[in-house]
Amino acid sequence: MADPHANRSAGHVSNAPNGTPPLAPSASHLPRPALPAQLTDATLANTEQFVWQTLATACKDRHHGMHTPGIVTIASDGHPAPRTVVLRRVDAASRMIVCHTDARSEKVHEIEREPRIAWLFYDPQTRIQFRIAAMARIERDTPLASEQWQRSSLSSRRCYLAGITPGTLSDVMLTNVPIGMEGRSPSLAESEAGRVNFAIVVATALRVDVLELATEGHRRVVFACGQSPTWAAV
Ligand SMILES: Cc1cc2nc3c(=O)[nH]c(=O)nc-3n(C[C@H](O)[C@H](O)[C@H](O)COP(=O)(O)O)c2cc1C
Repeated sequence: MADPHANRSAGHVSNAPNGTPPLAPSASHLPRPALPAQLTDATLANTEQFVWQTLATACKDRHHGMHTPGIVTIASDGHPAPRTVVLRRVDAASRMIVCHTDARSEKVHEIEREPRIAWLFYDPQTRIQFRIAAMARIERDTPLASEQWQRSSLSSRRCYLAGITPGTLSDVMLTNVPIGMEGRSPSLAESEAGRVNFAIVVATALRVDVLELATEGHRRVVFACGQSPTWAAV
């Protein structure tokens, strides 16, 4: 029987006949190697495991499509408020997803007002999307927040040295980089002044919707964390 995934490629449809060996993926103008679909009847029961493994990989690999997800909060006027963040920590056992942020930012106030949030992940290589409903909390002075601060790079820490509250309106352009620190990272000693502005968003996943795009037909799996996954119509 012909392999139904043989002509499926990440990002576009390949005309390569079945059995054609994969081409080197380095040049972006060349067809990418065909990828087998991840979501199948055989893998359905393991979808939650697949989600956490994928997120763990994305967390470590800054080139992974899911390394910079969207996080959506609810603003005080009831509107959804999306923004891109960097995925900083994932723990499958506690269903935890973490990002770093400025403790003075809008999202912090929004989460403290309304802890129901959503994460949006997409990997263009595999053409897989995760939508994750979660409950979030803000941590500033906890052991976990301190551990994340210790792990953070000096270049990342520069953001937390911003002198003006993020989102403050201004008549002039405000990069909010401290004077004299343009184009360079702070020293370790300089960076410590940013600790007071550093917070982490700790989210506990509740429900997941996984969508995989495939030329032979997209596929969708949904589950409540810890419960059996089920197929859903795309
Ligand atoms: C690629 C990328 C990565 C970002 N990573 C973060 C991040 O890890 N944490 C963060 O607070 N903001 C990050 N931002 C900025 C946010 O998208 C957003 O503009 C900022 O946090 C202010 O959001 P707020 O006013 O809704 O709190 C990132 C933006 C981009 C484009």
